Amino acid sequence: MSEDRPGPAGGEAGGPQFDFLLQEPLSRARGGDSLQKQLLRRLRAAVLDGRLPAGSRLPGSRALAESLGVSRNTVTLVYDVLSTEGYIEPSKQGTRIAALARPEPENRAHPAPVALARRTERISGRDSGGADSLLFTPGVPALGHFPLAAWRRSLDRVLQQGGTELLGYGPPRGEPALRTAILRHLALARGMRCNPEQIVLTNGAQEALSLCVRLVADPGDTAWVEDPGYGGAQTALACGDLTVVPVPVDADGLRTSASDWEDRPPRLVCTTPAHQYPTGAVLTASRRLDLIEKCRLHGAWIVEDDYDGEFRHSGEPLACVQGLAPGAPVFYVGTFSKTLFPSLRLGFLVLPEPLADRAAPVVDELLRGGHRHEQLALAHFMESGQYGRHLARMRRLYRRRRDALRTALAEHFDVPHTVTGGDSGMHLAVRLPPDVPDQALARAARRHGMGPRPLSRHSLLPDAAHNGLVLGYGNTPESAFTPGLRQLARLARELD
Ligand SMILES: Cc1ncc(COP(=O)(O)O)c(C=O)c1O
Repeated sequence: MSEDRPGPAGGEAGGPQFDFLLQEPLSRARGGDSLQKQLLRRLRAAVLDGRLPAGSRLPGSRALAESLGVSRNTVTLVYDVLSTEGYIEPSKQGTRIAALARPEPENRAHPAPVALARRTERISGRDSGGADSLLFTPGVPALGHFPLAAWRRSLDRVLQQGGTELLGYGPPRGEPALRTAILRHLALARGMRCNPEQIVLTNGAQEALSLCVRLVADPGDTAWVEDPGYGGAQTALACGDLTVVPVPVDADGLRTSASDWEDRPPRLVCTTPAHQYPTGAVLTASRRLDLIEKCRLHGAWIVEDDYDGEFRHSGEPLACVQGLAPGAPVFYVGTFSKTLFPSLRLGFLVLPEPLADRAAPVVDELLRGGHRHEQLALAHFMESGQYGRHLARMRRLYRRRRDALRTALAEHFDVPHTVTGGDSGMHLAVRLPPDVPDQALARAARRHGMGPRPLSRHSLLPDAAHNGLVLGYGNTPESAFTPGLRQLARLARELD
């Protein structure tokens, strides 16, 4: 657009309305914005704040250029941009300021209330994150023990061999090589039954949990969660507008009752059978079989979150629920956040066999692939045996740390308490008496560089038994246990 019909008579630059352009000369400072950018900014601002009302005629480009002392080309380029953006439009009498939908001045004083969707109220304030390196933070593996050099070699190999080919989106459900490596590992280590087509690579377990919700649950459906339980599962369910029903946990894991099945039958049952988070209970074989049976009867799906089941401290890792019965109604969720490192953000979902054919094309629409280098590097890391060796080393390390933490608790944490869990994973649950409120203790601990999580934060049911701390030992060296626990005991006494 290079309209050059003169504007109305008046000031040099098209009438008094445009005097603001001349009040302050455009800056010619070296390194500053170009003349074109400055002029564009001034004109845009004048249209937006109403100094140039709709219908005002623009001065001709030659006249404006002369008044401003810039080249005509600068002005025509600015007019072109304003026209493309819809601030000005041609008319019979020349180019005019367009009518923009602008808030009435009185509304500007009262901006619309800033509100999030109601579902977010249920998930805010969990105070998670930012505690990776604090003592006793649960859920963080031994970062300093990760074999970085071997991992870099796997990554380098992929970068060298993959070339630019790998820069595209890739398969939506993830690299077949990694899906096959995962399948081989799961079949041996966890008794998994599936084919590679059922495996979906995700952005950690969290995306896998959200996928389950999106695939099989409609807003208003009921979902059962363990209580106390994992906040990430509650978040995924809340964001699907599901009705979350807390189901108690005892020493044998999730304890469902006949009346629960009768009165509030679920669409989804979220559970951590190998190592209940956070109590550490293991779901017994009879409860596993009963859960499969009941879910089949009621058309419900189990979401089996196997976040740290690889680190079993007594005997072999337990077989997963998914592999217990052919065609079991189970979404199996796995993650490399604990076995490798959390910032990798790699997890996976194994679709239930009866649903896989129908769900896979939907998943292909929902996901966009990506992270191909990391996925292929991990496939190499697994197939070359490094993953297995790392797991074995970490199992030994965590077992040692668990034993040392139990001993240190008995000897140096002189607050009445009971310890649960510890057969697997990287944390212990420590129950405390009601006169030591766990949330206040966790806050005080934070101020002293410690990140244990309050047990009550994991619970939707009011229950005095859910007062305590989740003590992570994955990323906390044994040498820190005694001083850390003594400090925690001191802080607990000071709460009185
Ligand atoms: C019960 C449970 N599930 C899953 C995860 C891992 O989630 P992600 O893979 O998204 O890091 C955690 C991490 O703390 C967890 O405690």
